Amino acid sequence: MPYTHFGKPADVWKHLALCEILNFEKPKTYIETNSAYADYLLDNSPERKLGIFHFIEKTTNNPVLSKSIYYRQEKPALIRQKYLGSPGLAINILSELCNTFIFFDIEKNALKNIDELAKSLHIQNKINLNNRDSLSGIDEWLPQTSSTSLIHIDPYEIDRDGISGKTYLDIFIEAAKRKAKCLLWYGFNTLNEKQRLNKYILSGLSGLSGCHLHCIELIMKNIGKDTPTCNPGISGSGLLSCNLSEKSLSAIDSYSMQMVDIYENTRYKGNRADIYMEKIID
Ligand SMILES: C[S@@+](CC[C@H](N)C(=O)[O-])C[C@H]1O[C@@H](n2cnc3c(N)ncnc32)[C@H](O)[C@@H]1O
Repeated sequence: MPYTHFGKPADVWKHLALCEILNFEKPKTYIETNSAYADYLLDNSPERKLGIFHFIEKTTNNPVLSKSIYYRQEKPALIRQKYLGSPGLAINILSELCNTFIFFDIEKNALKNIDELAKSLHIQNKINLNNRDSLSGIDEWLPQTSSTSLIHIDPYEIDRDGISGKTYLDIFIEAAKRKAKCLLWYGFNTLNEKQRLNKYILSGLSGLSGCHLHCIELIMKNIGKDTPTCNPGISGSGLLSCNLSEKSLSAIDSYSMQMVDIYENTRYKGNRADIYMEKIID
């Protein structure tokens, strides 16, 4: 099924941070395990109104956010009624810097859409498309990764193992050991779910050292303890990273705080939609 969460508030934060990270890290190899589409046709759903449309409106006169790479990418796309997903953003930002892009998705049409963008930019020769499960397929690429690779893992569920017997957190750990730069996004809808994931992440990473680990979450203030509350797609999400530069880490922190600011006093379907930030690993 095509990815439907594009341009919602959690996507805005994810892509805002991703663009700055790509710009600072300038990887030679970019790998994405759960790509989805390069771009989407925008609609005016309440979730996207609170997401990309709210962001663009609040950012136009914001001295910090208006300089963000994300704003500079999405504003012109929005004029064409488009929203750029992570493959579109990564290709646009890295097209001249990166030698190889590797995209995984189990949905054929998502990869076709990425291929069309690559063709329009005449960089098909740099693009490797994998229409298969990334939990097993990534094994072919992991041994080739190094400090010049950036792996973007965006599955939502990070603790469910596939046929390979591995979870996406296992892949993150392998990438960290190889000194590759790695981003792992995860989501949750209740505080209980968040606590379970925090425990799973912290115990999984306990043996790792020297990988510059960092983990931060943005959470809706109305999140329920054990029952999902009304939310624009998801109640909370986290970004776990390793081997990133200080510049990227401080951009993640400062843009996360900006997100908290621009979501102050917002509403979604009559409910408060304010968010707060929590550092899980600093
Ligand atoms: C969370 S979205 C990705 C969003 C995208 N990375 C972005 O930020 O714009 C999930 C995508 O993962 C794909 N997917 C789900 N399970 C997968 C698997 N086992 N291997 C590869 N892709 C998968 C889905 O088809 C969907 O397109």
